[in-house]
Amino acid sequence: MDLSVKIAGLKLKNPVITASGTFGSGREYSQLIDLNKLGAITVKGLSLNPWEGNPYPRATETSCGMLNSIGLQNKGVKDFIDNELPFLESFNTCVIANIVGKTVQEYIDVAKELSKTKKIDALELNISCPNIKEGGISFGSDSDSAARLTSAVKEKTDLPLIVKLTPNCADIAALAKSVELAGADAISLVNTFLGMAIDIDTAKPKLANIVGGLSGPAIKPIALRMVWQVCKEVDIDVIGMGGIANANDAAEFLMVGAKAVAVGTANFSDPQTTIDIIKGLKIILKSKEMTDIKELIGSFNAR
Ligand SMILES: Cc1cc2nc3c(=O)[nH]c(=O)nc-3n(C[C@H](O)[C@H](O)[C@H](O)COP(=O)(O)O)c2cc1C
Repeated sequence: MDLSVKIAGLKLKNPVITASGTFGSGREYSQLIDLNKLGAITVKGLSLNPWEGNPYPRATETSCGMLNSIGLQNKGVKDFIDNELPFLESFNTCVIANIVGKTVQEYIDVAKELSKTKKIDALELNISCPNIKEGGISFGSDSDSAARLTSAVKEKTDLPLIVKLTPNCADIAALAKSVELAGADAISLVNTFLGMAIDIDTAKPKLANIVGGLSGPAIKPIALRMVWQVCKEVDIDVIGMGGIANANDAAEFLMVGAKAVAVGTANFSDPQTTIDIIKGLKIILKSKEMTDIKELIGSFNAR
């Protein structure tokens, strides 16, 4: 059975990827699952200099999901290159580096550092970060600033560039088209949805930041709708994510046209989820008398 797929020219042994920020650099998970079995590992967001993240509490459980306001805490790209990349290199799986920034220049600088290593397979641009030069509005909330960021980074790297869309925008299909036209090699979606939760006893927010990103099964139907809309709109490859917790969920995203899927929050409740999805996809293919995952991709029949 052939589960291999190509994303922006990059060959993955199967379409199952870990979602950024939910898998660290894979070190802890490597004690629980065989990382060699994954299609790719997307590492947590990397900034130029270390970011402290938001004040605590910064995560809380919600019905069928979770809210987080981690604030992209990380030790910076140099620490990743020196201390985490050599570990990741020992596995036979693709590595996608997720990059974050507060200015266009910062994204470019991180992309350049990673491109120099020659050990990263693709970059994923997290465009949900606030643009401090434009009043803190997210780069991804409007098509023009997303396109400007995409083309600026694309010019400075030879690596395949995946642009990760935020669902907190007016028109996801228009946003996707604008980053495609700006030179993105692939698109991933969705990032988390802005939400909030209140402790009614104290009347205080459950997150110190008040608002945070909602993820997990609660968002799956909305994420699937957005992935479907984007797949219809663009010609480049799409990676679908948002609430995927089992092989049936993954199959839905593949059927609407995603070439690969990423698993995020589900890793927290069951670290085996990705491995179970890979096994489950084979069972689904067999039940449909298919021998190649590419037969499943895009097989959604709207009528
Ligand atoms: C704790 C946490 C941290 C995250 N950190 C990042 C990040 O660093 N960069 C990024 O692009 N997305 C980040 N995300 C978003 C996920 O990669 C994913 O897009 C989102 O959670 C939806 O997928 P899921 O419902 O399977 O978790 C984070 C999500 C969570 C829950």
